Amino acid sequence: MKVMGTTHTGVVELHLTVRDMEEADLPDLACFYSRLGLEKMPAELERARRGVVDHLVVCTPSGLLVAKGGVNYDEKPEAGVIWTLSVRAELRSLGIGTVLIGAAEDRIRARGLPRAEIGVEENNPRALALYERLGYVAYGSEPASWDDEAEDGTVQLYETTCTLLRKDLRS
Ligand SMILES: CC(C)(COP(=O)(O)OP(=O)(O)OC[C@H]1O[C@@H](n2cnc3c(N)ncnc32)[C@H](O)[C@@H]1OP(=O)(O)O)[C@@H](O)C(=O)NCCC(=O)NCCS
Repeated sequence: MKVMGTTHTGVVELHLTVRDMEEADLPDLACFYSRLGLEKMPAELERARRGVVDHLVVCTPSGLLVAKGGVNYDEKPEAGVIWTLSVRAELRSLGIGTVLIGAAEDRIRARGLPRAEIGVEENNPRALALYERLGYVAYGSEPASWDDEAEDGTVQLYETTCTLLRKDLRS
């Protein structure tokens, strides 16, 4: 007689690489962006070539892209602002975001900048808790807005408030 209902579990160690995003990655990154967001990426990658921003992707050994994020060096004096962080929905809470933020902080340090900053929407307590656990300290808040595309393709200005956090990278 076949015994039903037994479940086998296992643990694997996954080696991840964080590297600069390339033009050729864009088709594989569609799940992370709205159509509007994806259209802006070639111009964003040009800004990355000029050194104004970094756009990073996290890859598995087989080359699967599992997360992306960026650093903006053009926004705050003496700081790199980490933004557009996103991990594939089905792979969240495994530590991938922590790896990506560590890589972004290395990029900021490599430019000789003393500080990393992150802005997080007030309605995103889980991301806020992660940043605080990684050493970021809230110091204020500011209104933010961006174009948001609905499923029917209409574009509306989305307005929100972000908590601003910073971390001293010198210690
Ligand atoms: C926010 C985001 C980038 C974080 O990435 P992530 O890969 O989920 O983050 P991590 O896994 O490193 O850490 C988050 C959680 O995983 C847990 N975790 C970390 N490493 C872990 C590990 N090795 N094993 C199990 N759990 C782990 C952490 O304790 C944390 O738990 P919490 O959810 O209770 O706080 C991701 O959740 C995401 O893309 N969210 C949607 C978009 C978004 O909100 N972006 C941020 C805009 S500011």
